[in-house]
Amino acid sequence: MEKLKIAGGYPLKGTVRISGAKNSAVALIPATILAESPVTIEGLPDISDVHILKDLLQEIGGSATFSENEMTVDPSTMISMPLPNGKVKKLRASYYLMGAMLGRFKKAVIGLPGGCFLGPRPIDQHIKGFEALGAKVTNEQGAIYLRADELRGARIYLDVVSVGATINIMLAAVRAKGRTIIENAAKEPEIIDVATLLSNMGAKIKGAGTDVIRIDGVDELHGCRHTIIPDRIEAGTYMILAAAVGQGILIDNVIPLHLESLIAKLKEMGVPIESKDDQVFVGQAEGFKAVDIKTLVYPGFPTDLQQPLTSLLTQAEGSSVVTDTIYGARFKHIDELRRMNATIKVEGRSAIINGPTKLQGAKVKASDLRAGAALVIAGLLAEGVTEITGLEHIDRGYSHLVEKLNGLGATAWREKLTKEEQEQMKNA
Ligand code: EPU
Repeated sequence: MEKLKIAGGYPLKGTVRISGAKNSAVALIPATILAESPVTIEGLPDISDVHILKDLLQEIGGSATFSENEMTVDPSTMISMPLPNGKVKKLRASYYLMGAMLGRFKKAVIGLPGGCFLGPRPIDQHIKGFEALGAKVTNEQGAIYLRADELRGARIYLDVVSVGATINIMLAAVRAKGRTIIENAAKEPEIIDVATLLSNMGAKIKGAGTDVIRIDGVDELHGCRHTIIPDRIEAGTYMILAAAVGQGILIDNVIPLHLESLIAKLKEMGVPIESKDDQVFVGQAEGFKAVDIKTLVYPGFPTDLQQPLTSLLTQAEGSSVVTDTIYGARFKHIDELRRMNATIKVEGRSAIINGPTKLQGAKVKASDLRAGAALVIAGLLAEGVTEITGLEHIDRGYSHLVEKLNGLGATAWREKLTKEEQEQMKNA
């Protein structure tokens, strides 16, 4: 086990290249199960979630290789092997194995997913969708059992706008008989990316990116080559970091349209930003204005960026309110930011941040992926050295973080935890 150390207080500049989107990758890789011949995905991020999914595809009999950010999966030899325990529990997105295996084999056994703890994260809408398509779904000792004699297209209205349920129902429906209509579907760019891959594999999908998706089932899907979209949340994290400690940073390989809500908020705070083609330049602000943020489904402000932005808001003049309408308990980073001298209180679904505050380096723990990103930004802003544990969360979503930070002029490094620290972590 390791910790990340950051010597804060230094300005950064230069260019950082954004990796492929984690939240697309974790759906695109399971989607390959639906084909009968090899699928290649280019530009994948080098993160632990991608490696775990590759191992899971191998566990069900497929062959999968990953090198230079490209994965080739041959799904022809896969079988519907039950995956009740083990690696499926290490990531949230293992739930996409349910939709993909149900779609291809008409049966699957998948352990209930793990991932970041952000409060309750039910999957009732996924299950409602599978059942509407004709599957029998039961929960037996912490694993979901799905079986269907055949899948038949259906009209499914999602009671909650859910990225995961929208994608999972698409995965199950592309090889169902007849037409499926998903109403009140999520509109995130990752949904369009998955629909693009599935269409390249021969699926018939219309409306991805709108709130009504129509799918006409086909008997078979074939292999193809697909390039993943850039990670808008990684890009957003580096934009916030650039605003916090940058002296002019170019974020390369982004789709600025995916980041409009963040760009608008940073501009409101006084950060100069210019976007062009697939790049965003973040200039140096002369002080930050306090702003209020409410997270919403896309194209609203993403919940995944409220934690990193909170660190920047500690530098703003006045009082800012961050309200998370998606995950009401996504505030585990606040206690850690307080250890670093931030003045923040949590009231219900909102964090109230008073600034500006000079942050101080401290020993802190990343409790989830984006909490980790928030602490990295706080560490760069702080005086002295910050030590961050819980790196397994950060490694799930930020490809080559230390190299990218140091490439911008930061002083960040990983160190092994001492035996004493390992004991403390176990007992925490
Ligand atoms: N919800 C339900 N029932 C369901 C599904 C969702 O009530 O069946 C609720 C959730 O509890 C939540 C809301 O609906 O309040 C939205 O959840 P959604 O299903 O959209 O989230 P998800 O698919 O589980 C993905 C990302 C998250 C991101 C959210 C919201 C992946 C693997 N994860 O989660 O990413 O926060 O969408 O945009 O795509 C992250 O990257 O750090 C991360 C947590």
